[in-house]
Amino acid sequence: MFPTLSSPTPRSDEFEVGVSMTVPAAVREALPQDAEAFNACHVACWREAYATLWGADRLDGLDEAALAGTRRAEIERGTARHMLAERDSEVIGVAIAGPSRDDDPPTDLELYAIYVRAAHYGTGVSTKLLDAVLEGKPASLWVYRDNPRASAFYVNQGFIPDGAERNDATGILEIRMVRKQAVPRL
Ligand SMILES: CC(C)(COP(=O)(O)OP(=O)(O)OC[C@H]1O[C@@H](n2cnc3c(N)ncnc32)[C@H](O)[C@@H]1OP(=O)(O)O)[C@@H](O)C(=O)NCCC(=O)NCCS
Repeated sequence: MFPTLSSPTPRSDEFEVGVSMTVPAAVREALPQDAEAFNACHVACWREAYATLWGADRLDGLDEAALAGTRRAEIERGTARHMLAERDSEVIGVAIAGPSRDDDPPTDLELYAIYVRAAHYGTGVSTKLLDAVLEGKPASLWVYRDNPRASAFYVNQGFIPDGAERNDATGILEIRMVRKQAVPRL
């Protein structure tokens, strides 16, 4: 029953829990006009997830306007698939996949990125995004070796390390994970 003026006021956390449990995230393809919100979510996720790995200087140096412009151009180009998850008109997660960029591609398809706002970890929205962007196909990806939550998520989604390693542009070690078989769609 909805609260009335004479009802006890619900505690704010009760109200928040009620909202988050009843409004599922919607996942859809991003359009060029979504580029700014898509990028804002992406950057917010970097700040939440990579404070230690990247450090303050790298995070403070991000040019969000330039990144949003690049994102818009990439969505318009259409080579890669850009998906977003939104709830209550807020973008809460993003995912990008496209042709493998590796010299020795273990699969045709590469997951370039999947990022979800920390408040939505463990809600299932990441699984929905991954399913939408990969459509259950075999794929490979690069993940920081020191990113245990992401690695555990990928293992749950059928990916295993194939032994390949590299450093990113700033020298942080990444490992490659591969899903060789197609998996059933959600
Ligand atoms: C990676 C990401 C999309 C996964 O989404 P998620 O909602 O957190 O994933 P889930 O909660 O379904 O799965 C995470 C798993 O990691 C486990 N986990 C959490 N912290 C862990 C840790 N420190 N060490 C090992 N496993 C951990 C959880 O228990 C869970 O496994 P389980 O379902 O078997 O219990 C999300 O965490 C994210 O956006 N992270 C920041 C960005 C990022 O790292 N992206 C990947 C770039 S390659």
